Amino acid sequence: MDKKASILVVDDEYGVLQSFKMVLGSDYNISLAESGEKALQIFGETSIDLVLLDILLPDSNGIDLLKKFKGIDADVEVIMVSAVKDIKTAVEAMKFGAYDYIVKPFVVEEIINVVSRAIEKHRLLRKVTYLKDELERFQPFEKIVGQDPKMIEIFELISTISDSDGAVLIQGESGTGKELVARAIHRLGNRKDEPFVVINCAAIPETLMESEIFGHSKGAFTGASAVKVGKLELADKGIVFLDDVDTLDIAMQAKLLRVIQEKEIERLGSTKLIKIDVRFIAASNKNLKRLIQTGHFREDLFYRLNVFPVEIPPLRERRGDIPLLLNHFLEVYSKSNGKPVKKFSGGAEKILIENYEWPGNVRELQNLVERMATITKGNVIFPKNISDFSLNKKEIRDIPLKDAVDIFEKDFINDVLKKVQGSRKDAARILGIHRNTLIKKMNEQE
Ligand SMILES: Nc1ncnc2c1ncn2[C@@H]1O[C@H](COP(=O)(O)OP(=O)(O)OP(=O)(O)O)[C@@H](O)[C@H]1O
Ligand SMILES: [Mg+2]
Repeated sequence: MDKKASILVVDDEYGVLQSFKMVLGSDYNISLAESGEKALQIFGETSIDLVLLDILLPDSNGIDLLKKFKGIDADVEVIMVSAVKDIKTAVEAMKFGAYDYIVKPFVVEEIINVVSRAIEKHRLLRKVTYLKDELERFQPFEKIVGQDPKMIEIFELISTISDSDGAVLIQGESGTGKELVARAIHRLGNRKDEPFVVINCAAIPETLMESEIFGHSKGAFTGASAVKVGKLELADKGIVFLDDVDTLDIAMQAKLLRVIQEKEIERLGSTKLIKIDVRFIAASNKNLKRLIQTGHFREDLFYRLNVFPVEIPPLRERRGDIPLLLNHFLEVYSKSNGKPVKKFSGGAEKILIENYEWPGNVRELQNLVERMATITKGNVIFPKNISDFSLNKKEIRDIPLKDAVDIFEKDFINDVLKKVQGSRKDAARILGIHRNTLIKKMNEQE
């Protein structure tokens, strides 16, 4: 079942508070406050989706309170509750972002309707925030390409483990497709309609890490001016992807271990325990066993995460997948550029498939093909063009001298041209060749 939404009812009349609780209590988590001050306190400590706010309170003015709530959490929905005589104020409140108003004495049906509409709007808003985040990371290439037996084994593993709740640890060099595999597990599993929330352990500064992951209550520390929902809470019912998990410091590792064991969290500055139901998928391009030996990774956390280990081999150990990947990305990028599909010459293909070590794995290959599909003028790409694409030359092995000279020459000429700010005359002089020869070589390379 869906997690219940939380409603805060603010009214100074005991009877009103109780009747709201009776009407809404079975469908929502209800908090009650009999004063503005109490309401603000609860609001700072609890995650509230909707406030039912009496306009006339002994200690505060409804509109001021509304502004404060919105200041703390801009997404919160507020429904004003007014006596007939202050409808004008209620209407004014709408200008400051109240969702609606209801008039006392009220009709139960009306309350249930307006509350459920407001909650639905709030739920959608949250979803939109989450989707926006996701869109920024959107990858058009969700398809995992591979036919090497090692990859087939991984595909089988993914479909076996996707419906389980056990943690997954994906290890592999940079660019081998760890995140792609994590997303595939999400897409195929029973949590597919719930969030996939990425915690990028390497990119979040250590000082912000705790509040990113656990969230914080208002005033938890200097600068915490609003409640923040942490990523673990955001991922409730779904999957948390701990990317580059090896970069977490030891203290955070301990905290994470606790969450995995206890399945509950506390926001910073709050003592309230919040139950969460998430599946963990972690990824690392380091050898975690080695990090355990050197004391940089907790062994107990490793075993908690390593329920289902997935090891993605580097691209150079599954060379059969290279032509497949080259063709896949050629097609994707030619299509997105609206250009005819380009081809590698036999010689170029041979180097890429047999002689290059692909230190950046599939990501490097993908980038190479993208640049090629965009930059290369002709329809065929030759070995001498390869240097356009900044492959790491040291990682090219065992190729004929002529190809090596082609690849090297172009780089060398380009370096000289850069040094003389593109002056062909100066470059020709430095290189000791005639200007026409230089121009010919430059044209050949395109
Ligand atoms: N087998 C594959 N088929 C198609 N695309 C792939 C494959 N493997 C990786 N990719 C693509 O290569 C890029 C890098 O993959 P991904 O981000 O999953 O790697 P990673 O292992 O998480 O890398 P890093 O360790 O650097 O974070 C992505 O754009 C992904 O779509
Ligand atoms: Mg990654």
